[in-house]
Amino acid sequence: MKKLLSFFCILVLNKMVSAQSTIIPIETSENALVLQTDQENHLGIIHFGKKLNHSFEYSQISKAFDYQDNNSGIYHSVYTPGGTWSLVEPAFQVLHADGNTSSDLMYVSHQVQQKNENVSLTTIILKDPVYGTEVSLFFQTFAKENVFEQWTEIKHQEKSSIQLKKYASANLYFVAKDFYLHHYHGSWAKEMMPEDTRLTAGIKTLDSKLGTRANLYQPPTFMLSFDKQSSEESGKVLLGTLAWSGNFKMDFEKDSYNNLRLIAGINPFASEYTLAPNEIFKTPSFIYTYSENGRGEASRNMHDWARKYRILDGEGNRLTLLNNWEATYFDFDEQKLAGLFKGAKELGVDMFLLDDGWFANKYPRNSDRAGLGDWQENKKKLPNGIGYLVKEATKAGVKFGIWVEPEMVNPKSELYEKHLDWVIREPNRPEKYFRNQLPLDLSNPEVQDFVYGVLDNLFTKNPELAFIKWDCNAVTYNAHSIYLEKNKIPQSHLYIDYVRGLYKVLERLRAKYPKVPMMLCSGGGGRVDYGALKYFTEFWVSDNTDPLERIYMQWESSYYFPSIAECNHITDWSKVGIKYRTDVAMMGKMGYDIVVAQLNPQELEFSQKALKNYDKLKETIWQGDLFRLVNPFENKFASLQYVNKQQTKSVMFNYLTIDRYDMNTLLEPVKLEGLNPSKKYSIKEINVFPGTKPIYDGESVYSGEFLMKIGINPKLNHQRSSVVIEINEQN
Ligand code: DGJ
Repeated sequence: MKKLLSFFCILVLNKMVSAQSTIIPIETSENALVLQTDQENHLGIIHFGKKLNHSFEYSQISKAFDYQDNNSGIYHSVYTPGGTWSLVEPAFQVLHADGNTSSDLMYVSHQVQQKNENVSLTTIILKDPVYGTEVSLFFQTFAKENVFEQWTEIKHQEKSSIQLKKYASANLYFVAKDFYLHHYHGSWAKEMMPEDTRLTAGIKTLDSKLGTRANLYQPPTFMLSFDKQSSEESGKVLLGTLAWSGNFKMDFEKDSYNNLRLIAGINPFASEYTLAPNEIFKTPSFIYTYSENGRGEASRNMHDWARKYRILDGEGNRLTLLNNWEATYFDFDEQKLAGLFKGAKELGVDMFLLDDGWFANKYPRNSDRAGLGDWQENKKKLPNGIGYLVKEATKAGVKFGIWVEPEMVNPKSELYEKHLDWVIREPNRPEKYFRNQLPLDLSNPEVQDFVYGVLDNLFTKNPELAFIKWDCNAVTYNAHSIYLEKNKIPQSHLYIDYVRGLYKVLERLRAKYPKVPMMLCSGGGGRVDYGALKYFTEFWVSDNTDPLERIYMQWESSYYFPSIAECNHITDWSKVGIKYRTDVAMMGKMGYDIVVAQLNPQELEFSQKALKNYDKLKETIWQGDLFRLVNPFENKFASLQYVNKQQTKSVMFNYLTIDRYDMNTLLEPVKLEGLNPSKKYSIKEINVFPGTKPIYDGESVYSGEFLMKIGINPKLNHQRSSVVIEINEQN
């Protein structure tokens, strides 16, 4: 303990009223966010970007700018309060106990805690001089990864409750000539559709009001380029994401100096939050990384951070699997499943994953119209229960995992009949369904117990269960909670308390079952964020498993999430050959959703070998550095490469994306990246379909310098529409 304490160096700086200004540099190995108080003791952002080698020079920054005061107040506030001197979009807005709507926030003190040699936490306390409302800003930095994690806590000591109307996680200020926002929209089977916007005067908002499945239309992730559009290898770029599995809002506001204010956090839409005296309101984290060497470096930093500090078991192992969703949908029984177990073994995957349709008896889950909520095995399909399936799978030589969607209920279910009070619905209005179902009210502790119980029962009865796929298919219509109503808690707490309830359940589960891998799924990728990924080992990007579509989705999703967390399955969604499907799925955590018995002998042989190749390469794909070499949005093919940290192994994936006549041959080589120029590497084409010949057989050896300056031609063409190349150091 003593040792631990001596490791923590705590520096406390206290300053109530300042004659002289206070400067707070918050640094990573490359970058800095620098804050400074003004004459009135308001704290503003004076720099975001590269750090200065001599930190005493931060005091010269504000003199270098000649911004005049203007009629909107101070633009660069570190946490803009509403109702007093600022007339721009506030980060913080309160209705005080006495009905007053004004807030001001003055700097009080800050402290820096060095948690270890890489992680440091700066805590800043701001206070309203009239009402005493206290706002603590937290900035956790990860030096090596250049990642900032920022969140806020709010409390007060008024006589009775106050109402929080705005409570951002982060309020940032950027100075540049121009700003380009790379953001996303989408819907089911169309996740992560990118769009580029040059920000102009006014506010550009990215937000979601969908509740449970918040990211279906827009995820809380974006890329912001400064001065000009960034590319993979060049340009100033910030990758940002909110760690929250519910409604979010990000406002990008250009001020009259053409600088950019960013306010990111939970969406305050219909979510005024009542805060009792001394209660603490903690916001989710806004996580961001900044690079002046382009998107590639920024995303590699994000991956390193996520694997080490956020995703459950981010540096650990993952299971390859065979899922039965597309193979059977709801139509299966014990015998059919036993056949699939054998297929899984024959293929060579680690596990079989039983999807939707295994439960409910009064209203059997034979389609998505009934049964959700009734988590007892369906006696007709599974007369011997899950336990029997686990045993059979084990006998067949594979592990067994199972799908659940515990947050939801079909009106056609016993749960709905028994517990209408647990369902999110407007009692006085007709119900509105999304996929024939409704969310359960996770703000209610009884519902939290129920959801926890669904999983706990499964594990208690079947301790060998090796995997959970946790789905969530509906958005939240008619957001009304009977629990909140009964307990005289404002309805406007529902969206927030739902997510907090979900996290409570996940906390409890992880306390009891810390290791079991769990896939975060939401009718595809409808809920992927770093709030949930603390509890999950992986996520489902999209139900769209057409490999061509996946190339684009995986490209975009890979900016924010490392490949170890991204489940890619080979399915029959598309009729393109199994090689193309496999080569695309390999760029992540590979799985299958096919009937193995329907593969022809060549396809089976190919798949078995591909899984063996994957086994050799997975460490590099999961833990290595990702380089996006050729962008499919701008070219007729995509090339991506992973390099392990020791620069001894690498793998390059190439996919033809446009099958036009003039693509018959690829004329130029593709330059590799991330290798050691002075090392020698062999080049070998793998995942070669039986009966075809590789162009690179592993005999040719090149220097890293050659591969990075001249490159290698994957020779994509109609017959070779995907090519995977293994690169190994030669001694
Ligand atoms: C949506 C998921 O994204 C699918 O993979 C599948 O699990 C279905 N739900 C099952 O209902």
